[in-house]
Amino acid sequence: MALPIVGPVRVGIIGAGLIGRAHSLMLRLVCDGAPESVAVTRVHDIDAGAAEALALKWPGAKVCAQAEEMFDDASLDAVFICTPTATHRRLCLAAAAAGKHVFCEKPLAMNSAEADEMRAALERAGVVGQVGLVLRFSPVYTVIRAMATEEAAGRLIVVTMRDDQDFPIRGAHPSAWRNEPRATAGGTLIEHSVHDFDALAWMFGPIRRLYCRTRNLNGAAGIEDFGATEFEFEAGFHGQLTSVWHHILNRPSNRRLEVFTENLFLACDTDGSGPITIQRADGYEEKIEEAEVMRRYEELMLGERPCLSPLRHSFQIPYAVEDAVFIAALRGQCEPGPGLEVGVAAQRLVEAAYRSAERGAPVEMTDLK
Ligand SMILES: NC(=O)c1ccc[n+]([C@@H]2O[C@H](COP(=O)([O-])OP(=O)(O)OC[C@H]3O[C@@H](n4cnc5c(N)ncnc54)[C@H](O)[C@@H]3O)[C@@H](O)[C@H]2O)c1
Repeated sequence: MALPIVGPVRVGIIGAGLIGRAHSLMLRLVCDGAPESVAVTRVHDIDAGAAEALALKWPGAKVCAQAEEMFDDASLDAVFICTPTATHRRLCLAAAAAGKHVFCEKPLAMNSAEADEMRAALERAGVVGQVGLVLRFSPVYTVIRAMATEEAAGRLIVVTMRDDQDFPIRGAHPSAWRNEPRATAGGTLIEHSVHDFDALAWMFGPIRRLYCRTRNLNGAAGIEDFGATEFEFEAGFHGQLTSVWHHILNRPSNRRLEVFTENLFLACDTDGSGPITIQRADGYEEKIEEAEVMRRYEELMLGERPCLSPLRHSFQIPYAVEDAVFIAALRGQCEPGPGLEVGVAAQRLVEAAYRSAERGAPVEMTDLK
């Protein structure tokens, strides 16, 4: 599909489950901000009822009984791949062969070699690819990234993150595939904390070495529900990530982040929009309130991509911003991203953590190259 696309970007959603429905809502927000910029025109799911229910949200959208119908449909510009991890590779390679632009959910694939094959196929086809590493659009993390790397902050000393979620096979995640070794690339480290591995490298810089220990309490082969990862960044400072899948049904999925530099302490108890705790070398602990965080986020986002201005009323929703970037990129208004190469790099970091856990020893990222 030649770029830029003139008129609404015509999108097909593959997988009408939790995240497929979320992307549909986000694309509606994008459309509300920039009318006629995008339309969902095709939906496919192996569960026909789910596909029909989602298609009803978009006037004129049709259900495709097979994904191939979408790929053969010349009217379609792009597909969103929103199915369980094991299916991503086949769908992405077929979309690339048909010349469709691709937004693919994370983790990209069952391993980084497959993910890289997907990246290469999109590159060869000359189409745009974006991976759903949504923390790159988090207001609090975007602002913390800017503050922690200011010269006045001094050198980074340590970053500590906790990512916890109810074991995602019930409640907000009612489908069972995350507990099915053939459908998932692993457990909490790859299926959830791949976001964190990417966010830590994006916020604070390249990672040189990892040491990880895992535990498996749920019993399904290869699906760990705990991971403790120690990072050594190339710049010499350290980080720790605690990844937990627990059974506290009413506890919402959340993250806590703490950063110490020589002259600054930063912390936040959300991974989206909220206040940031701050203490400077000469001050007391105080809060940067959510409204001020959002003001700074807007300034940073619009500085990078002014074309997102019509979406500013939805900037507190990272999924809306990531979808707006994909659509605007296809319309020639900004650079896409994060691209599939970012998804491959994040998957390689998690693979290094798994290798470390298997060996019971640290792993250098250069060992994997
Ligand atoms: N970025 C995020 O924050 C985020 C959040 C949730 C899920 N995800 C990712 O999105 C993907 C889907 O997760 P989910 O929570 O929406 O799962 P889900 O189980 O809620 O939905 C998946 C849907 O895909 C359908 N499906 C399964 N196999 C299919 C196939 N071969 N062809 C077509 N449809 C098929 C299922 O019927 C289901 O409706 C996963 O890769 C997951 O890691 C990302």
